[in-house]
Amino acid sequence: MKYPRVLLKPGKEKPVRNAHPWVFSGAIARVEGQPRDGDVVDVADAGGAFLARGFYNRQSQLTVRLFAWDEDETLDGRWLRERIAQALAWRQRCTPPDTNAYRVVFSEADGVPGLIVDRYTDVLTVQLSTLGLERRKAEVVEALVDVLQPRAIVERADAESREREGLTASQGPLWGKPPAEIEMVEAGLRFVVDLRGGQKTGFYLDQRVNRARVAAYCQGARVLNAFAYTGAFAVYAARAGAEQVVNVDTSAEALALAERHMTLNGFDRPQDEYIVGDVFQVLRAYRDRGEAFDVIILDPPKFAHSAGQVERATRGYKDINLQALRLLRPEGMLATFSCSGLISADLFQKVLFGASVDARRPAQIVERLTQAPDHPVRLSFPESEYLKGLVCRVL
Ligand SMILES: C[S@@+](CC[C@H](N)C(=O)[O-])C[C@H]1O[C@@H](n2cnc3c(N)ncnc32)[C@H](O)[C@@H]1O
Repeated sequence: MKYPRVLLKPGKEKPVRNAHPWVFSGAIARVEGQPRDGDVVDVADAGGAFLARGFYNRQSQLTVRLFAWDEDETLDGRWLRERIAQALAWRQRCTPPDTNAYRVVFSEADGVPGLIVDRYTDVLTVQLSTLGLERRKAEVVEALVDVLQPRAIVERADAESREREGLTASQGPLWGKPPAEIEMVEAGLRFVVDLRGGQKTGFYLDQRVNRARVAAYCQGARVLNAFAYTGAFAVYAARAGAEQVVNVDTSAEALALAERHMTLNGFDRPQDEYIVGDVFQVLRAYRDRGEAFDVIILDPPKFAHSAGQVERATRGYKDINLQALRLLRPEGMLATFSCSGLISADLFQKVLFGASVDARRPAQIVERLTQAPDHPVRLSFPESEYLKGLVCRVL
């Protein structure tokens, strides 16, 4: 089959040759044929030689999202099934037997631009964020059913991931009869995932490995779990023998589920607290009251959504880290995260350094954390790395 062609400007072919999956509008010299947004196009160098194949969308700065570098590959049901099966094979290898929830497909990192699939036991949640895949939703669902044989599939695409392709939020059942919530197991601990609720994310699967790492410091500790969501870090901390866990989140719903998770896992912990509030304010209030903690976890939402927001985000990260460092007892541990892809690991460490200087709390980095192996980082696509964490010991 012959596809419309996108010809690049001279000298713009190198990233494509090196398998970077994005072609920016500024790299394009001209378009041959009349592709509609969402169509498949071939990308060629300035001399007309084939380079790669992808989804076209003029509404996006990322005008072509590449999915194949071989002229014989076409996007059809078989291709989708193969990519999903390959992605699944890795998850089956990297997921321990005491865990039945993981990210099955991680978009470009798994070679399928715009497709994110999470599995919670036998239910899948799907986010489609390219117009090309949105148009092929039925084929995607069919391929997922074939390869993964789920009980149900739910779409949970929020507006942010879709707006750059001109799409709006899209949520609801795609296949089967999805339950309102489902129970999953991570590291032998039970969690309930709200599949229909208002919160856009079901469960932060990317923190699986880090929850266990942080729990290792929680025995006998007074723990502040800031940005607690449904308390996954808290449940791990409880199992590790934390003396008290104080959970803070703006979402009362999420905290109610956090409390439920303790009971579900057989922990009777009247000493724990669930505070509905803004972490920025709660940290200051604790400082004024002279509260102190042995472990503080900071796992905020993404602060930087665009390059223009990086500076403001940096100030936000510095502020919460500075306030947290002040609340830690000597020898206390700060486990601090950023899931903003636009904030590099280097910059994040500098922010921590600034916070430590201003708080007059010298600290050591004892562990560097990242996203779990079911969220792989493709070497040709460094943008797939977004989560970074530092575990610091306050001196
Ligand atoms: C990345 S999630 C935390 C995930 C959680 N640590 C886990 O492992 O499940 C960020 C959370 O921060 C909450 N949040 C956002 N802004 C907040 C703020 N200013 N103060 C308190 N919580 C906030 C959101 O409701 C969300 O639950």
